[in-house]
Amino acid sequence: MKQEIGFVQREVLKEKPDFSSLGFGKYFTDYMFVMDYQQEIGWFDPRITPYEPLTLEPSAMVFHYGQAIFEGMKAYKAADGTIQLFRPEKNMKRLNESCERLCIPQIDEDFLLEAIKQLILTEKDWVPDGEGTSLYIRPFIFSTEPYLGVRPAKQYKLLVILSPSGAYYGDQLSPVRIYVEEQYVRAVIGGVGHVKTAGNYAASLKAQEKADENGFAQILWLDAKENKYVEEVGSMNIFFKINGEVVTPRLNGSILPGVTRDSVIELLKYWNIPVREERISIEEVFAAHARGELEEVFGAGTAAVISPVGELTWNEHAIAINDYKIGELSQRIYDEMTGIQLGKKEDPFNWTVKVEQVEV
Ligand code: COI
Repeated sequence: MKQEIGFVQREVLKEKPDFSSLGFGKYFTDYMFVMDYQQEIGWFDPRITPYEPLTLEPSAMVFHYGQAIFEGMKAYKAADGTIQLFRPEKNMKRLNESCERLCIPQIDEDFLLEAIKQLILTEKDWVPDGEGTSLYIRPFIFSTEPYLGVRPAKQYKLLVILSPSGAYYGDQLSPVRIYVEEQYVRAVIGGVGHVKTAGNYAASLKAQEKADENGFAQILWLDAKENKYVEEVGSMNIFFKINGEVVTPRLNGSILPGVTRDSVIELLKYWNIPVREERISIEEVFAAHARGELEEVFGAGTAAVISPVGELTWNEHAIAINDYKIGELSQRIYDEMTGIQLGKKEDPFNWTVKVEQVEV
């Protein structure tokens, strides 16, 4: 039986920010969704409540052992005024995969999706409609049990917060400089790199800091064992267009299976553009550039959408890609993807889901 979603009214609504200069992840809406878990009860007390600080015990296990996972999704104001989501069932599925790896109890994917829709309907005035904007949705789960022994916790909280946002990297399609990291690694096969856990991002910060100091937007991670094969960028998956063919690292157990990554692959197949998921070394990428065959490089992620790469620096050696200009294919994918997300283009894949009826 589905649980009723409670509602706690906020006394005073917040003033909305200027939707024309949102940045990314800086503003939060009036309400959030919350649900608790206790081993004896399961997930209980789903509710939409005012967005406000949480009270947690200092001994809450998340602070000590890091059972924390999250998702990233977006709601778009479509051309016809409706609100729509993009492949949300994939985020629900991946959330449960992250739960599984981190020993967090599974959630009811359909129920959570309906709860997210209900939250968005409550906050429909917060969905921006300007160019490149959306309502970023952040579901997350963490352990709350007050206990200091190392084992899976018996109590958790699941929250969904909403943030009206613009482009992740300043200007949506301006090509970014990326630094190929050799000293630090992000994830190992057998570890947690293939799921969305907070620790992966904590582990990336040192290298990201180094990259920032040198004017790079992001890190390109190599495999942890041989320091040779391309894995992913800090907040996105990566694609290379080499001599008319598109290559992206195949999912090997330490790479995040991005929803946007999957959508790019599907789109390329639909357009009959050759695309391969395979192991690719950084040497091969630089060799392709030396032969004049590296035509485009771009990242793909929910927050970043499509982010053209203008420069890769590896081992003190910088290569300019497509003369620091947006590639034709990157632009085409961006236009198609955002066109579908915003209901301006046909959706032959049935990727979009309207936020209308809520069935809880
Ligand atoms: C997303 O693309 O939604 C992510 O979760 C990446 C995050 C680092 C912004």
